[in-house]
Amino acid sequence: MNAPSYSEALEFAIDRSYEINLDMLRSRNLHLDTHNDYLVGTYPPLKAMGDLNAERLLTQVASSIDLYFHIPFCNQYCSFCHFAKEINPSSERVERYLVALNKEMSWSDAALAGRDVETAFFGGGTPSFLTNHQLKTLFDMTNQRFDLSRAEVSFELHPSLVKHADAADRISTLLRGGVNRFVLGVQSLDWSILRILNRGHGVEEVIQTVKLLNEMGVENLSLDLMYGLPQQTLRSWYDSIIGLLDMGIEKFNVFPLMFKSTDPVARHLARGRYQFAGAKERIIMHFMAEHILTKLGYRHGPIFYWTKRSQPHSVQQRRKYDSWNDNNLVPFGVGGFGYMSQCQFYNEADLDRYLSRVEAGEKPVWRGVVLSQDDLMRRTLMFALRSSGVLLSRFEREFGVSVEEYFCRELEILREAGLVCISNDGVLSLTAAGNINSGAVSLLFFSDNVLERVAYNDGRITDKRTDLLEKHDYSPAARYGSSAEMQAVFR
Ligand SMILES: C[S@@+](CC[C@H](N)C(=O)[O-])C[C@H]1O[C@@H](n2cnc3c(N)ncnc32)[C@H](O)[C@@H]1O
Ligand code: SF4
Repeated sequence: MNAPSYSEALEFAIDRSYEINLDMLRSRNLHLDTHNDYLVGTYPPLKAMGDLNAERLLTQVASSIDLYFHIPFCNQYCSFCHFAKEINPSSERVERYLVALNKEMSWSDAALAGRDVETAFFGGGTPSFLTNHQLKTLFDMTNQRFDLSRAEVSFELHPSLVKHADAADRISTLLRGGVNRFVLGVQSLDWSILRILNRGHGVEEVIQTVKLLNEMGVENLSLDLMYGLPQQTLRSWYDSIIGLLDMGIEKFNVFPLMFKSTDPVARHLARGRYQFAGAKERIIMHFMAEHILTKLGYRHGPIFYWTKRSQPHSVQQRRKYDSWNDNNLVPFGVGGFGYMSQCQFYNEADLDRYLSRVEAGEKPVWRGVVLSQDDLMRRTLMFALRSSGVLLSRFEREFGVSVEEYFCRELEILREAGLVCISNDGVLSLTAAGNINSGAVSLLFFSDNVLERVAYNDGRITDKRTDLLEKHDYSPAARYGSSAEMQAVFR
């Protein structure tokens, strides 16, 4: 089937965009401003956490686990990216980090023994920043500790990989190490946008990386794309999607650009340095992607994720959000966040602090919280909503209460605004408008207690430019939930 033309995709997207009544949603605080909208990645968020005894994490580990390994190194500083990283570290520093990572892994050996590893994800930063030798070290030590043979093992690549003469050797190392899913950060196929973003690669490197992966028999490849980028027009967005479809890509992660005030791109927005899509245009971009992909036989998985109908969705993405307390996310490395034994927690996000704690023989847990039953229900609900939805009967079975009774007020607000619906088979899910406003939907489920803790910790920050909590808490609650005034608005 042919891809829809630009005018068809645009016309469809504009039509669909009329379904989203921005004025109504704004008046009910169900649409977050573009610069403050963010996907809720942990619940409770960092600013609601406190000290946590690391031993607590090992008390009730679930029988199946997901592993996350953070590799915090990059060649350059992309203007939109606030993930924990260092730019162009020396090889001694990288190797010191790998030793620490290995030591950190040993800490949970006994507690994790016998657990089924369902997925492992090597993210960053830029894991493909590592040399071939460092990659071998990383996979040797990981495979010594964990049985990854039945796991989905994902690895994030940056297109600058192909600038290295030994790019093919590095991919062979990854394949031998057990990697069976690659995620390539592309963002856009518009070279002028890539330059503004300081991506450190052009379109040619994207083409070459995809070609190399194909030649090496890689079948499971997802590409990251973003909309709402500086100087990105509707046409440029359309051309990027079509360009990648022409290359035969079967899986996409389509992210709206999300801002954090400390990023250069947030300053560019605030100062009007570049043209950015407004709220309405971002919605049109969302529906353009949806129309093109649906028409070509792709289906939507967990929020942001698309795959060709014949291909399964990534296990890692599904488990990340369909998280019913029966799976645990075990992070290793600086800035990793996890969920274990009913605790949501963060590892140290500063590399020097991470290294010195691990080298001193400590587990580098920075902050965390043991979830109450109430927060567990909220977390389960807000994450599942972004994926397969909440099977109401399962929720009642697991928690002994009905979603519709317990969250009666929230559901009434969301249903009236058209952001959620309940199917005939009893699944509560986000509507198209709910998907687009998922940050606001999640925020509505934050407990008073969590918002109060966010406000308390926020109030103690003396310098927002340097504070680590401020730097690493991306959640909308950290922005909206942090003042008593805003809490009143959300209640
Ligand atoms: C850990 S990042 C980076 C992977 C790899 N280092 C790269 O840049 O190609 C994974 C993906 O998150 C997405 N991402 C990063 N920052 C984002 C932001 N501010 N808003 C939306 N998506 C973002 C990008 O699509 C990126 O490829
Ligand atoms: S987007 Fe990727 S390459 Fe760019 S700074 Fe972030 S982690 Fe590094």
